[in-house]
Amino acid sequence: MRPIELTPRLLALARQVPQGARFADVGTDHARLPVWLLEQGIIQSAIASDLREGPLEQARETARRHALTDQLSFRLGDGLAPIRGEEIDVCAIAGMGGETIAAILSACRWAASGGHTFLLQPMTSVEDLRGWLWRSGFRIIHEELVGEGRTIYVVITAIPGSMVPMTPAEEWAGRQYRGMEAPLRGTYLDRLCGRVAGMVEGLRRSTRPEDLEKLPRLEEVLTGLNKMKEEWDRWQQ
Ligand SMILES: C[S@@+](CC[C@H](N)C(=O)[O-])C[C@H]1O[C@@H](n2cnc3c(N)ncnc32)[C@H](O)[C@@H]1O
Repeated sequence: MRPIELTPRLLALARQVPQGARFADVGTDHARLPVWLLEQGIIQSAIASDLREGPLEQARETARRHALTDQLSFRLGDGLAPIRGEEIDVCAIAGMGGETIAAILSACRWAASGGHTFLLQPMTSVEDLRGWLWRSGFRIIHEELVGEGRTIYVVITAIPGSMVPMTPAEEWAGRQYRGMEAPLRGTYLDRLCGRVAGMVEGLRRSTRPEDLEKLPRLEEVLTGLNKMKEEWDRWQQ
């Protein structure tokens, strides 16, 4: 059997895993990430967990095909519930909505207090996840943008700790600094500005009181995003 190959999104997650780590993949589905990390000799052990039996069976099947069933522990359950903090160093929660990822971390008693590293890859509601992280005792130490086709994915590395509060625009786009290595950031900011401008337009046309309530906050986000884009373009000259 040929070693497993990872997509750029999963590879970006894998690159954040330090040599010798004890690893968990929550919402593992196909278990490609832990299997790749084991095949490459990067991790010493892995837990693959999923909420549902079907995806967990797929994980077992991937491990069987790669003769790695002895090195993977399979756990059925919600979020981090089937995993004890002392079993792992690094945990990936990838390919789910940002709100689900926040709910998983929030429901876990040891996540914000242990010395764990969390590799988070939200498919939606990235701004909600960033906002939840900094307000809930997590510090974002690294972010990476990964392109697959036209899609730009965000990979966030977070550890327990405090960080300088994010502005509303930073919650949407992540933090930026001069000299930052991020070839996709210009495109990412352009797309966010366009998306939020569309949302602001929609709210302005709405007559529903709850939409009008949301408008000032979203206008602040848009102003902040446009400033970030101007700053980013200036830095690239
Ligand atoms: C789209 S797959 C992502 C698979 C893989 N992590 C990736 O990024 O390619 C999402 C998986 O998360 C699982 N899942 C969703 N909510 C979960 C939860 N609360 N706890 C554990 N697994 C969950 C689903 O059953 C599904 O197998």
